[in-house]
Amino acid sequence: MTTMLEVADLGHTYQAKSGAHTAIDGLSFRVDAGELVCVVGPSGCGKSTLLRTISGLIRPTRGDVTLHGDAVRGVPEDLAVVFQDYSRSLFPWLSVQRNVEFPLKRTLKRAERRARAAEALDQVGLSGAGGKYPWQLSGGMQQRVAIARALAYRPALLLMDEPFASVDAQTRFELEDLLLKVKREHDTTVVVVTHDIDESVYLGDRVLVLTKSPASVVADLPVNLPAVRDQITTREAEEFVELRAEVARLLNVGKTEAITAKRRSDEAQAAKWVAAERAANRERADREAVAD
Ligand SMILES: Nc1ncnc2c1ncn2[C@@H]1O[C@H](COP(=O)(O)OP(=O)(O)O)[C@@H](O)[C@H]1O
Ligand SMILES: [Mg+2]
Repeated sequence: MTTMLEVADLGHTYQAKSGAHTAIDGLSFRVDAGELVCVVGPSGCGKSTLLRTISGLIRPTRGDVTLHGDAVRGVPEDLAVVFQDYSRSLFPWLSVQRNVEFPLKRTLKRAERRARAAEALDQVGLSGAGGKYPWQLSGGMQQRVAIARALAYRPALLLMDEPFASVDAQTRFELEDLLLKVKREHDTTVVVVTHDIDESVYLGDRVLVLTKSPASVVADLPVNLPAVRDQITTREAEEFVELRAEVARLLNVGKTEAITAKRRSDEAQAAKWVAAERAANRERADREAVAD
């Protein structure tokens, strides 16, 4: 596996009039190419700060961000970000279609841009809205335009900051599935920030759980669910139910307890593997006995 993103000992302290505020403190993790990592943490813990430093929008006060081997200084070319604040992410003077086409201007000819934007708008359920202006749309629709713009760009790394927080539940499910489909089809590496525990498990290949402010990584949990997921059966799966409980516990307890919880979960996991291995061995022995 090649590493797409590496965050090493990242820290950021804001200097405000009211004094200094450390938002993130000693964050380290890696994301492999093609992986979808969810970052979950309490409100105000520093998730948006993390995404802003990864995307080169703010310079961290400590540590390094590396994107396929290169140190991030300024916004990288092959990166797209869906911001939490949709109301500020679209150009009000451009139509919806033109907003989606905008980042493609340097790389694609007009006809291709049009086709790519139309396809992305269709994917987010906005095929009829291309001629409208952002201010003519609801908040949830504006956010879908921002998502369409990011998808149309087909970035190597897609960063999303609570991307589905402003849409209704049904649309949220559809957009989650769309994201998983796009990720599979284009091998996009994705980092999604969310405060929704279920969403983090449903979407993630891994879930990074952050501590309260200032944020550091309290657990890095692999999600052993099949790549193709389903809103009903996946959410009922034992692994899903166990993981969401684990994430909830990690978010609620202090750091030391959280580490113990992680160890307990590793032990439980190991016990499960041992049991499965034993069952498989027994079955093999039975089969061989029958064959004899
Ligand atoms: N530009 C800024 N100047 C000073 N403090 C900030 C700034 N942006 C965010 N903060 C503070 O940093 C902390 C983390 O913010 P943020 O990264 O937005 O958290 P989250 O996205 O997890 O809710 C909060 O306490 C917030 O008030
Ligand atoms: Mg935020």
